[in-house]
Amino acid sequence: MSQKFSYAVHATDGSARLGTISTPRGDIRTPAFMPVGTAATVKAMRPESVRETGADILLGNTYHLMLRPTAERIDRLGGLHRFMNWDRPILTDSGGFQVMSLADLRKLTEEGVTFRSHVDGSRHHLTPERSMEIQKLLGSDIVMCFDECPALPADEMRVAESMRLSMRWAQRSRDAFGDRPGHALFGIQQGGVTQHLRAESAEKLREIGFDGYAVGGLAVGEGQEAMFGVLDYACDMLPEDRPRYLMGVGKPDDIVGAVKRGIDMMDCVLPSRSGRTGQAFTRRGVVNIKNARHQDDPRPLDEDCTCPACRSYSRAYLHHVFRSQEIISSMLLTWHNLHYYQELMGDMRAAIGQGRFAAFEAQFHADRADGDI
Ligand code: GUN
Ligand code: ZN
Repeated sequence: MSQKFSYAVHATDGSARLGTISTPRGDIRTPAFMPVGTAATVKAMRPESVRETGADILLGNTYHLMLRPTAERIDRLGGLHRFMNWDRPILTDSGGFQVMSLADLRKLTEEGVTFRSHVDGSRHHLTPERSMEIQKLLGSDIVMCFDECPALPADEMRVAESMRLSMRWAQRSRDAFGDRPGHALFGIQQGGVTQHLRAESAEKLREIGFDGYAVGGLAVGEGQEAMFGVLDYACDMLPEDRPRYLMGVGKPDDIVGAVKRGIDMMDCVLPSRSGRTGQAFTRRGVVNIKNARHQDDPRPLDEDCTCPACRSYSRAYLHHVFRSQEIISSMLLTWHNLHYYQELMGDMRAAIGQGRFAAFEAQFHADRADGDI
């Protein structure tokens, strides 16, 4: 097992890249989709099952874990991997983004951010230095810089000031992280949908130097067209020999479009959250299992899917347990959705490796019906 963190590109097809991130806890095949395990669990799934869907890496959240059960407690219990029974790589987000969207009474200064917990109202302070300390206590393999990002649309002045603050925090994150062999620190590009601000941000991050580079501040209300517009130039601003991570994205068609433009890693709550709200992703589009037209349907969710929900259960059963609010409904639909996402990633990796990504993308769109299926 390699004791270093490294990244290698095996093949490219247009801007799309096939690669491997190697870590002491195992390899990550890229393009990779990272299921979200915010509170030390991918909701409704055992880690063994998440692995069976094909995931190489999970995402955890500084913000949630620092509030409950606290980073110090997780450290005392042997770190996040042991605590949640996942021994493969974990990437942790740094907290700033979640504070801005979830916490109460936030106060942002040059130093960091003060806020009240959305759980119990307690007061907390988060800085680049404290975020690095928490992510170290958790035992995170891929640590994210502490940043902040305005909701879009926002005026250019506000986006520029916020980006420059995040770049000063990126330098402080780098200094506080230090040298930790086998662990990686990723910078986060900001700058909204303004090209020269994205360029300034990328320039600053490259100057500091990171193991990987995230594109942040997207999927915050700008729409798919604007997001793809940014990705069309943002990837080229980042070093070719490091992984590129698009944060918080997205729907299946967002993911295909991002990979096409040179993104290597993504995370999103969509497959797991939708599983709990009765939405299933399939090659042909979205199935809303709560719809009454499924109540007598003996067919599986997706005839072509090999996940446990599709192998052993009918749409009629899935409809029934969803309507009855049975726990197995969340378990089965989450498994199916994560399986679908991982299969999509595997199909894209195969297509890039064989130089047929354009044909893959055309088929992906041709297969999808509009609306519920
Ligand atoms: N998750 C989605 N977008 C972002 C972002 O811009 N920064 C961080 N830290 N996390 C995110
Ligand atoms: Zn399935």
